Amino acid sequence: MQRFEISDKDAMGRIGRLETPHGKIETPALMPVINPNIEFIPAKDMKKFGAEILITNAYIIYRTPELREKAIKKGVHGVLEVDIPVMTDSGSYQLMVYGDVEISNEEILKFQIDIGSDIIVPLDVPTPPDADYGTALSDLEVTLQREREALKLERGDRLLALPIQGSTHMDLRRRCAEEVVKMGGDVYPIGGIVPLMDTYRFYNLVKIILEVKSVLPSYAPVHLFGAGHPMVFALAVALGCDLFDSAAYALYAKDDRYLTPHGTKKLEELQYFPCSCPICLEYTPEELRRMDKDERQRLIAEHNLWVSFEEIRRIKQAIKEDNLFELVECRIRSHPNLLFAWRQIREYGWLLEQYDPSMKHSFLYSGVESCYRPAVLRHHERVLNVELPDKDEIIISTDEGVLADFYLRPAFGVVPIEMLESYPAGHAEIPPSELLEDEALEIAVQGLKRFLDHHSDRRFVIVASGKWLEFLKDLPENAVVKHDKP
Ligand code: GUN
Ligand code: ZN
Repeated sequence: MQRFEISDKDAMGRIGRLETPHGKIETPALMPVINPNIEFIPAKDMKKFGAEILITNAYIIYRTPELREKAIKKGVHGVLEVDIPVMTDSGSYQLMVYGDVEISNEEILKFQIDIGSDIIVPLDVPTPPDADYGTALSDLEVTLQREREALKLERGDRLLALPIQGSTHMDLRRRCAEEVVKMGGDVYPIGGIVPLMDTYRFYNLVKIILEVKSVLPSYAPVHLFGAGHPMVFALAVALGCDLFDSAAYALYAKDDRYLTPHGTKKLEELQYFPCSCPICLEYTPEELRRMDKDERQRLIAEHNLWVSFEEIRRIKQAIKEDNLFELVECRIRSHPNLLFAWRQIREYGWLLEQYDPSMKHSFLYSGVESCYRPAVLRHHERVLNVELPDKDEIIISTDEGVLADFYLRPAFGVVPIEMLESYPAGHAEIPPSELLEDEALEIAVQGLKRFLDHHSDRRFVIVASGKWLEFLKDLPENAVVKHDKP
Protein backbone atom coordinates (compact mmCIF):
# COMPACT_ATOMS: atom_id res chain seq x y z
CA MET A 1 0.00 0.00 0.00
CA GLN A 2 1.19 3.50 -0.81
CA ARG A 3 1.47 5.42 2.47
CA PHE A 4 3.18 8.51 1.13
CA GLU A 5 1.49 11.07 -1.05
CA ILE A 6 3.27 14.06 -2.52
CA SER A 7 1.33 17.29 -3.07
CA ASP A 8 3.89 20.00 -3.85
CA LYS A 9 7.40 19.90 -5.27
CA ASP A 10 10.38 22.19 -5.59
CA ALA A 11 14.03 21.35 -6.30
CA MET A 12 14.15 17.72 -5.13
CA GLY A 13 12.05 18.67 -2.11
CA ARG A 14 8.41 18.01 -1.58
CA ILE A 15 5.47 18.49 0.73
CA GLY A 16 3.88 15.14 1.38
CA ARG A 17 1.56 13.21 3.67
CA LEU A 18 2.64 10.05 5.37
CA GLU A 19 -0.08 7.84 6.72
CA THR A 20 0.56 6.09 10.04
CA PRO A 21 -1.72 4.09 12.35
CA HIS A 22 -2.08 7.26 14.47
CA GLY A 23 -3.01 9.47 11.55
CA LYS A 24 -1.40 11.39 8.73
CA ILE A 25 1.54 13.68 9.19
CA GLU A 26 2.73 16.35 6.82
CA THR A 27 6.29 16.21 5.57
CA PRO A 28 8.94 17.60 5.72
CA ALA A 29 8.54 16.66 9.36
CA LEU A 30 10.84 17.00 12.31
CA MET A 31 10.49 14.32 14.97
CA PRO A 32 11.73 15.48 18.37
CA VAL A 33 13.60 12.70 20.14
CA ILE A 34 12.01 11.84 23.46
CA ASN A 35 14.30 10.11 25.91
CA PRO A 36 11.80 8.00 27.83
CA ASN A 37 14.05 8.06 30.88
CA ILE A 38 14.53 11.77 31.19
CA GLU A 39 11.60 14.12 31.60
CA PHE A 40 13.10 17.16 29.92
CA ILE A 41 10.39 18.66 27.77
CA PRO A 42 7.41 16.30 28.14
CA ALA A 43 6.31 14.53 24.97
CA LYS A 44 2.79 15.89 25.33
CA ASP A 45 4.13 19.48 25.11
CA MET A 46 5.77 18.86 21.73
CA LYS A 47 2.58 19.59 19.78
CA LYS A 48 2.73 23.24 20.80
CA PHE A 49 6.10 23.69 19.03
CA GLY A 50 4.70 22.14 15.86
CA ALA A 51 5.57 18.46 16.22
CA GLU A 52 3.18 16.10 14.47
CA ILE A 53 5.22 12.98 15.17
CA LEU A 54 7.76 11.97 17.81
CA ILE A 55 10.57 9.46 17.94
CA THR A 56 11.70 7.55 20.98
CA ASN A 57 14.00 4.68 21.70
CA ALA A 58 12.48 1.22 22.08
CA TYR A 59 15.76 -0.19 23.31
CA ILE A 60 15.88 2.22 26.26
CA ILE A 61 12.28 1.36 27.11
CA TYR A 62 13.05 -2.33 26.85
CA ARG A 63 16.08 -2.05 29.13
CA THR A 64 14.27 -0.08 31.84
CA PRO A 65 11.99 -2.49 33.74
CA GLU A 66 9.35 0.05 34.85
CA LEU A 67 9.13 1.56 31.37
CA ARG A 68 9.02 -1.83 29.74
CA GLU A 69 6.17 -2.97 31.94
CA LYS A 70 4.24 0.23 31.32
CA ALA A 71 4.87 0.01 27.55
CA ILE A 72 3.61 -3.55 27.38
CA LYS A 73 0.46 -2.55 29.28
CA LYS A 74 -0.29 0.85 27.77
CA GLY A 75 1.81 0.95 24.61
CA VAL A 76 4.50 3.45 23.74
CA HIS A 77 1.84 6.14 23.38
CA GLY A 78 0.81 5.43 26.97
CA VAL A 79 4.40 5.78 28.15
CA LEU A 80 4.77 9.14 26.42
CA GLU A 81 1.16 10.17 27.17
CA VAL A 82 0.46 11.26 23.60
CA ASP A 83 -1.91 10.21 20.85
CA ILE A 84 0.15 11.45 17.88
CA PRO A 85 2.29 9.09 15.77
CA VAL A 86 5.44 7.77 17.43
CA MET A 87 8.40 6.21 15.64
CA THR A 88 10.70 4.00 17.66
CA ASP A 89 14.39 3.45 17.11
CA SER A 90 15.89 0.05 17.71
CA GLY A 91 19.07 0.56 19.69
CA SER A 92 21.26 0.86 16.62
CA TYR A 93 22.50 4.19 17.82
CA GLN A 94 23.58 2.59 21.10
CA LEU A 95 25.19 -0.10 18.99
CA MET A 96 27.19 2.56 17.20
CA VAL A 97 28.17 4.42 20.37
CA TYR A 98 28.83 1.44 22.68
CA GLY A 99 29.72 -1.21 20.12
CA ASP A 100 27.19 -3.69 21.44
CA VAL A 101 23.57 -4.07 22.51
CA GLU A 102 21.97 -6.80 24.58
CA ILE A 103 19.08 -7.67 22.37
CA SER A 104 18.50 -9.47 19.09
CA ASN A 105 17.06 -7.92 15.98
CA GLU A 106 13.94 -10.04 16.19
CA GLU A 107 13.38 -9.26 19.87
CA ILE A 108 13.59 -5.50 19.43
CA LEU A 109 11.37 -5.60 16.34
CA LYS A 110 8.72 -7.68 18.09
CA PHE A 111 8.91 -5.38 21.08
CA GLN A 112 8.31 -2.33 18.86
CA ILE A 113 5.32 -4.10 17.33
CA ASP A 114 3.98 -5.11 20.76
CA ILE A 115 4.13 -1.60 22.16
CA GLY A 116 2.26 -0.16 19.18
CA SER A 117 4.96 1.90 17.53
CA ASP A 118 3.83 3.63 14.33
CA ILE A 119 7.16 3.26 12.56
CA ILE A 120 9.48 0.43 13.52
CA VAL A 121 13.20 0.14 12.81
CA PRO A 122 15.32 -3.01 12.62
CA LEU A 123 18.65 -3.22 14.42
CA ASP A 124 20.68 -1.84 11.52
CA VAL A 125 24.44 -1.50 11.90
CA PRO A 126 25.50 2.15 11.56
CA THR A 127 28.98 1.91 10.11
CA PRO A 128 30.88 5.13 10.85
CA PRO A 129 32.33 7.29 8.04
CA ASP A 130 35.69 6.24 6.55
CA ALA A 131 35.32 2.64 7.74
CA ASP A 132 37.45 0.30 5.64
CA TYR A 133 35.60 -1.24 2.76
CA GLY A 134 35.55 -4.77 4.17
CA THR A 135 34.01 -3.62 7.45
CA ALA A 136 31.42 -1.47 5.73
CA LEU A 137 30.51 -4.36 3.45
CA SER A 138 30.16 -6.95 6.19
CA ASP A 139 28.17 -4.52 8.37
CA LEU A 140 25.94 -3.88 5.40
CA GLU A 141 25.30 -7.56 4.91
CA VAL A 142 24.21 -7.83 8.55
CA THR A 143 21.95 -4.80 8.14
CA LEU A 144 20.31 -6.21 5.02
CA GLN A 145 19.86 -9.60 6.66
CA ARG A 146 18.12 -7.94 9.61
CA GLU A 147 15.92 -5.95 7.28
CA ARG A 148 14.84 -9.11 5.49
CA GLU A 149 14.05 -10.61 8.86
CA ALA A 150 11.93 -7.56 9.71
CA LEU A 151 9.88 -7.98 6.54
CA LYS A 152 8.83 -11.47 7.57
CA LEU A 153 7.24 -10.34 10.84
CA GLU A 154 3.53 -9.65 11.03
CA ARG A 155 3.39 -5.93 11.76
CA GLY A 156 -0.24 -5.01 11.09
CA ASP A 157 -0.51 -1.49 9.71
CA ARG A 158 2.74 -0.33 11.31
CA LEU A 159 5.27 1.23 8.98
CA LEU A 160 8.65 -0.38 8.55
CA ALA A 161 11.76 1.77 8.14
CA LEU A 162 14.62 0.18 6.24
CA PRO A 163 17.79 2.12 7.01
CA ILE A 164 20.44 2.64 4.35
CA GLN A 165 24.03 2.20 5.51
CA GLY A 166 27.38 1.85 3.72
CA SER A 167 29.62 4.38 5.48
CA THR A 168 31.30 6.77 3.00
CA HIS A 169 31.49 4.13 0.26
CA MET A 170 29.15 5.35 -2.42
CA ASP A 171 28.82 2.02 -4.21
CA LEU A 172 27.73 0.42 -0.92
CA ARG A 173 25.23 3.22 -0.27
CA ARG A 174 23.77 2.71 -3.74
CA ARG A 175 23.72 -1.04 -3.37
CA CYS A 176 21.97 -0.79 -0.02
CA ALA A 177 19.41 1.60 -1.48
CA GLU A 178 18.75 -0.82 -4.34
CA GLU A 179 18.28 -3.72 -1.95
CA VAL A 180 15.91 -1.95 0.43
CA VAL A 181 13.77 -0.71 -2.43
CA LYS A 182 13.50 -4.26 -3.72
CA MET A 183 12.44 -5.37 -0.25
CA GLY A 184 9.86 -2.60 -0.10
CA GLY A 185 9.89 -0.63 3.14
CA ASP A 186 7.60 2.25 4.08
CA VAL A 187 10.32 4.74 5.06
CA TYR A 188 13.99 4.83 4.06
CA PRO A 189 16.29 6.38 6.66
CA ILE A 190 19.81 7.30 5.63
CA GLY A 191 21.86 6.17 8.62
CA GLY A 192 25.37 6.43 9.98
CA ILE A 193 25.66 10.14 9.22
CA VAL A 194 25.64 11.72 12.68
CA PRO A 195 29.46 11.75 12.86
CA LEU A 196 29.51 13.62 9.52
CA MET A 197 27.14 16.28 10.77
CA ASP A 198 28.92 16.63 14.11
CA THR A 199 32.17 17.39 12.30
CA TYR A 200 30.61 19.60 9.60
CA ARG A 201 31.53 17.14 6.87
CA PHE A 202 28.60 18.31 4.78
CA TYR A 203 30.39 17.44 1.56
CA ASN A 204 30.18 13.74 2.39
CA LEU A 205 26.64 14.13 3.68
CA VAL A 206 25.40 15.74 0.47
CA LYS A 207 27.21 13.16 -1.64
CA ILE A 208 25.59 10.30 0.28
CA ILE A 209 22.13 11.82 -0.03
CA LEU A 210 22.55 12.42 -3.78
CA GLU A 211 23.86 8.91 -4.39
CA VAL A 212 21.04 7.33 -2.39
CA LYS A 213 18.44 9.52 -4.11
CA SER A 214 19.83 8.52 -7.48
CA VAL A 215 18.67 4.98 -6.70
CA LEU A 216 15.49 5.50 -4.65
CA PRO A 217 12.23 6.05 -6.52
CA SER A 218 10.75 9.52 -6.17
CA TYR A 219 7.76 8.29 -4.15
CA ALA A 220 9.95 6.86 -1.36
CA PRO A 221 9.89 8.89 1.88
CA VAL A 222 13.45 9.53 3.05
CA HIS A 223 14.48 10.09 6.65
CA LEU A 224 17.81 11.64 7.57
CA PHE A 225 18.68 9.75 10.72
CA GLY A 226 19.90 11.99 13.52
CA ALA A 227 19.68 15.25 11.58
CA GLY A 228 18.34 17.81 13.99
CA HIS A 229 20.18 21.04 13.33
CA PRO A 230 18.07 23.66 11.54
CA MET A 231 21.09 24.79 9.52
CA VAL A 232 20.89 21.63 7.38
CA PHE A 233 17.12 21.31 6.98
CA ALA A 234 16.68 23.45 3.85
CA LEU A 235 19.58 21.79 2.07
CA ALA A 236 18.44 18.30 3.05
CA VAL A 237 14.84 18.95 2.00
CA ALA A 238 16.03 20.38 -1.31
CA LEU A 239 17.93 17.12 -1.85
CA GLY A 240 14.76 15.12 -1.24
CA CYS A 241 14.76 14.28 2.48
CA ASP A 242 11.35 14.18 4.12
CA LEU A 243 11.89 13.29 7.77
CA PHE A 244 14.33 14.48 10.40
CA ASP A 245 14.77 13.56 14.00
CA SER A 246 16.24 15.80 16.54
CA ALA A 247 17.94 15.15 19.80
CA ALA A 248 19.96 18.25 18.97
CA TYR A 249 17.44 20.56 20.64
CA ALA A 250 18.16 18.84 23.97
CA LEU A 251 21.80 17.84 23.52
CA TYR A 252 22.84 21.33 22.49
CA ALA A 253 20.83 22.91 25.30
CA LYS A 254 22.74 20.83 27.82
CA ASP A 255 25.93 22.64 26.74
CA ASP A 256 24.25 26.07 26.65
CA ARG A 257 24.23 26.01 22.87
CA TYR A 258 21.57 27.97 21.09
CA LEU A 259 20.44 26.81 17.64
CA THR A 260 19.80 29.13 14.73
CA PRO A 261 19.19 28.30 11.05
CA HIS A 262 22.64 29.81 10.42
CA GLY A 263 24.54 27.77 12.97
CA THR A 264 25.10 27.37 16.67
CA LYS A 265 25.72 30.11 19.22
CA LYS A 266 27.12 29.72 22.70
CA LEU A 267 24.88 31.37 25.24
CA GLU A 268 27.95 33.08 26.72
CA GLU A 269 28.62 34.94 23.45
CA LEU A 270 25.10 36.31 23.05
CA GLN A 271 24.23 39.86 24.11
CA TYR A 272 20.94 39.76 22.22
CA PHE A 273 18.67 36.94 21.07
CA PRO A 274 18.21 37.00 17.27
CA CYS A 275 14.83 35.32 17.62
CA SER A 276 11.27 36.17 18.59
CA CYS A 277 10.13 32.88 20.06
CA PRO A 278 8.33 33.08 23.43
CA ILE A 279 11.58 32.34 25.28
CA CYS A 280 13.69 34.93 23.48
CA LEU A 281 10.98 37.56 23.92
CA GLU A 282 10.68 36.94 27.63
CA TYR A 283 14.33 36.70 28.63
CA THR A 284 17.66 38.27 27.79
CA PRO A 285 20.78 36.13 27.38
CA GLU A 286 22.08 37.62 30.62
CA GLU A 287 18.93 36.57 32.50
CA LEU A 288 19.32 33.03 31.20
CA ARG A 289 22.96 32.94 32.25
CA ARG A 290 21.97 33.84 35.81
CA MET A 291 19.38 31.09 36.07
CA ASP A 292 19.99 27.73 37.62
CA LYS A 293 21.21 25.14 35.19
CA ASP A 294 18.08 22.99 34.84
CA GLU A 295 15.79 25.91 34.20
CA ARG A 296 18.24 27.47 31.74
CA GLN A 297 18.67 24.24 29.80
CA ARG A 298 14.95 23.72 29.53
CA LEU A 299 14.44 27.23 28.19
CA ILE A 300 17.27 26.90 25.65
CA ALA A 301 15.82 23.56 24.54
CA GLU A 302 12.46 25.26 24.07
CA HIS A 303 14.02 27.97 21.96
CA ASN A 304 15.85 25.26 19.99
CA LEU A 305 12.53 23.58 19.23
CA TRP A 306 10.82 26.85 18.26
CA VAL A 307 13.52 27.76 15.73
CA SER A 308 13.71 24.23 14.37
CA PHE A 309 10.00 24.06 13.63
CA GLU A 310 10.02 27.61 12.32
CA GLU A 311 12.65 26.57 9.81
CA ILE A 312 10.54 23.59 8.75
CA ARG A 313 7.57 25.88 8.13
CA ARG A 314 9.76 28.34 6.23
CA ILE A 315 10.95 25.50 4.00
CA LYS A 316 7.40 24.32 3.32
CA GLN A 317 6.38 27.84 2.39
CA ALA A 318 9.40 28.06 0.07
CA ILE A 319 8.24 24.86 -1.64
CA LYS A 320 4.77 26.37 -2.07
CA GLU A 321 6.33 29.53 -3.54
CA ASP A 322 8.82 27.51 -5.59
CA ASN A 323 11.80 29.35 -4.19
CA LEU A 324 13.49 26.58 -2.24
CA PHE A 325 16.68 27.01 -4.28
CA GLU A 326 16.79 30.64 -3.18
CA LEU A 327 16.36 29.63 0.46
CA VAL A 328 19.06 26.95 0.25
CA GLU A 329 21.44 29.39 -1.42
CA CYS A 330 20.99 31.69 1.60
CA ARG A 331 21.46 28.92 4.12
CA ILE A 332 24.62 27.50 2.55
CA ARG A 333 26.27 30.87 3.06
CA SER A 334 26.19 30.24 6.81
CA HIS A 335 29.19 27.94 6.58
CA PRO A 336 31.81 27.35 3.86
CA ASN A 337 31.43 23.59 4.24
CA LEU A 338 27.76 23.89 3.37
CA LEU A 339 28.60 26.07 0.39
CA PHE A 340 30.99 23.69 -1.26
CA ALA A 341 28.92 20.68 -0.25
CA TRP A 342 25.94 22.11 -2.14
CA ARG A 343 28.06 22.91 -5.20
CA GLN A 344 28.18 19.18 -5.87
CA ILE A 345 24.71 19.46 -7.38
CA ARG A 346 26.58 20.60 -10.46
CA GLU A 347 27.57 16.98 -11.11
CA TYR A 348 24.04 15.75 -10.48
CA GLY A 349 22.16 17.95 -12.93
CA TRP A 350 20.56 14.89 -14.52
CA LEU A 351 19.12 13.90 -11.12
CA LEU A 352 17.82 17.32 -10.08
CA GLU A 353 16.35 17.64 -13.55
CA GLN A 354 14.13 14.62 -12.86
CA TYR A 355 12.60 16.28 -9.79
CA ASP A 356 12.57 20.03 -10.14
CA PRO A 357 9.36 21.44 -11.66
CA SER A 358 9.97 23.15 -14.98
CA MET A 359 7.55 26.04 -14.44
CA LYS A 360 8.12 28.52 -11.67
CA HIS A 361 7.45 32.16 -10.99
CA SER A 362 10.86 33.65 -10.70
CA PHE A 363 14.57 33.06 -10.64
CA LEU A 364 16.62 35.12 -8.20
CA TYR A 365 20.34 34.81 -8.70
CA SER A 366 22.32 34.63 -5.48
CA GLY A 367 25.71 33.35 -6.58
CA VAL A 368 27.34 30.91 -8.95
CA GLU A 369 25.34 28.02 -7.45
CA SER A 370 22.25 29.56 -9.04
CA CYS A 371 23.77 28.62 -12.42
CA TYR A 372 23.65 24.94 -11.41
CA ARG A 373 19.87 24.92 -11.06
CA PRO A 374 17.92 22.75 -13.49
CA ALA A 375 16.23 25.86 -14.88
CA VAL A 376 19.56 26.91 -16.38
CA LEU A 377 20.50 23.47 -17.66
CA ARG A 378 17.06 23.04 -19.21
CA HIS A 379 17.28 26.37 -20.94
CA HIS A 380 20.63 25.38 -22.48
CA GLU A 381 18.98 22.23 -23.86
CA ARG A 382 15.82 23.88 -24.97
CA VAL A 383 17.45 26.67 -26.92
CA LEU A 384 19.16 24.10 -29.16
CA ASN A 385 15.76 23.23 -30.59
CA VAL A 386 14.70 26.78 -31.34
CA GLU A 387 14.29 27.42 -35.05
CA LEU A 388 16.71 29.92 -36.57
CA PRO A 389 15.54 32.81 -38.73
CA ASP A 390 16.07 32.40 -42.43
CA LYS A 391 19.03 34.81 -42.81
CA ASP A 392 22.62 34.62 -43.97
CA GLU A 393 23.93 35.96 -40.71
CA ILE A 394 22.26 35.50 -37.38
CA ILE A 395 22.85 38.22 -34.82
CA ILE A 396 23.40 37.42 -31.17
CA SER A 397 23.89 40.44 -28.93
CA THR A 398 25.05 40.89 -25.34
CA ASP A 399 23.32 44.27 -25.28
CA GLU A 400 19.57 44.34 -25.24
CA GLY A 401 19.53 47.83 -26.75
CA VAL A 402 20.83 46.34 -29.99
CA LEU A 403 18.43 44.79 -32.49
CA ALA A 404 19.29 41.10 -32.74
CA ASP A 405 17.84 37.63 -33.26
CA PHE A 406 19.16 36.26 -29.98
CA TYR A 407 20.59 37.77 -26.83
CA LEU A 408 23.31 36.51 -24.58
CA ARG A 409 22.42 36.50 -20.91
CA PRO A 410 24.57 35.45 -17.94
CA ALA A 411 24.05 31.83 -16.85
CA PHE A 412 21.36 31.18 -19.46
CA GLY A 413 23.48 31.91 -22.50
CA VAL A 414 21.57 32.23 -25.78
CA VAL A 415 18.03 33.55 -25.36
CA PRO A 416 15.74 33.94 -28.38
CA ILE A 417 13.70 37.14 -28.56
CA GLU A 418 10.50 35.23 -27.98
CA MET A 419 11.83 33.89 -24.66
CA LEU A 420 13.02 37.26 -23.39
CA GLU A 421 9.93 37.74 -21.28
CA SER A 422 9.23 34.19 -20.15
CA TYR A 423 10.45 31.94 -17.37
CA PRO A 424 13.22 31.20 -16.67
CA ALA A 425 15.60 33.46 -18.61
CA GLY A 426 13.08 36.27 -18.88
CA HIS A 427 12.12 36.13 -15.21
CA ALA A 428 15.64 35.96 -13.89
CA GLU A 429 16.94 38.68 -11.61
CA ILE A 430 20.68 38.62 -12.24
CA PRO A 431 23.14 41.44 -11.52
CA PRO A 432 24.61 43.21 -14.57
CA SER A 433 27.33 41.18 -16.29
CA GLU A 434 29.98 43.76 -15.36
CA LEU A 435 29.41 43.02 -11.67
CA LEU A 436 28.93 39.31 -11.95
CA GLU A 437 31.14 36.36 -11.05
CA ASP A 438 33.12 35.15 -14.07
CA GLU A 439 31.58 31.71 -13.81
CA ALA A 440 28.10 33.00 -14.65
CA LEU A 441 29.49 34.40 -17.91
CA GLU A 442 31.60 31.29 -18.59
CA ILE A 443 28.53 29.08 -18.24
CA ALA A 444 26.64 31.33 -20.64
CA VAL A 445 29.50 31.16 -23.16
CA GLN A 446 29.69 27.36 -22.84
CA GLY A 447 26.01 27.29 -23.76
CA LEU A 448 26.70 29.64 -26.66
CA LYS A 449 29.49 27.39 -27.97
CA ARG A 450 27.19 24.39 -27.90
CA PHE A 451 24.55 26.37 -29.73
CA LEU A 452 27.05 27.45 -32.39
CA ASP A 453 28.34 23.88 -32.82
CA HIS A 454 24.80 22.61 -33.04
CA HIS A 455 24.24 24.95 -35.99
CA SER A 456 27.62 24.48 -37.62
CA ASP A 457 26.10 25.05 -41.07
CA ARG A 458 24.95 28.59 -40.16
CA ARG A 459 26.83 31.87 -39.69
CA PHE A 460 26.61 34.03 -36.59
CA VAL A 461 27.71 37.51 -35.61
CA ILE A 462 28.11 38.07 -31.89
CA VAL A 463 27.71 41.74 -31.03
CA ALA A 464 29.39 42.10 -27.68
CA SER A 465 30.56 44.74 -25.25
CA GLY A 466 32.17 45.12 -21.86
CA LYS A 467 33.16 42.15 -19.81
CA TRP A 468 31.60 39.69 -22.28
CA LEU A 469 34.49 40.33 -24.67
CA GLU A 470 36.91 38.63 -22.29
CA PHE A 471 34.91 35.41 -22.46
CA LEU A 472 33.99 35.32 -26.14
CA LYS A 473 37.22 33.68 -27.22
CA ASP A 474 37.97 30.46 -29.08
CA LEU A 475 34.51 30.41 -30.59
CA PRO A 476 33.75 27.95 -33.41
CA GLU A 477 34.56 29.13 -36.92
CA ASN A 478 30.96 29.87 -37.82
CA ALA A 479 30.92 32.87 -35.50
CA VAL A 480 32.61 36.27 -35.51
CA VAL A 481 32.65 38.70 -32.63
CA LYS A 482 31.97 42.40 -33.30
CA HIS A 483 32.54 45.07 -30.71
CA ASP A 484 29.30 46.74 -29.91
CA LYS A 485 30.81 50.14 -29.07
CA PRO A 486 34.09 50.36 -30.94
N1 GUN B 1 20.17 7.29 14.83
C1 GUN B 1 21.16 8.03 14.27
N2 GUN B 1 21.79 7.32 13.29
C2 GUN B 1 21.16 6.12 13.23
C3 GUN B 1 21.33 4.99 12.37
O1 GUN B 1 22.21 4.94 11.51
N3 GUN B 1 20.48 3.94 12.59
C4 GUN B 1 19.50 3.97 13.56
N4 GUN B 1 18.68 2.91 13.69
N5 GUN B 1 19.33 5.03 14.37
C5 GUN B 1 20.15 6.09 14.19
ZN1 ZN C 1 14.10 31.94 20.48
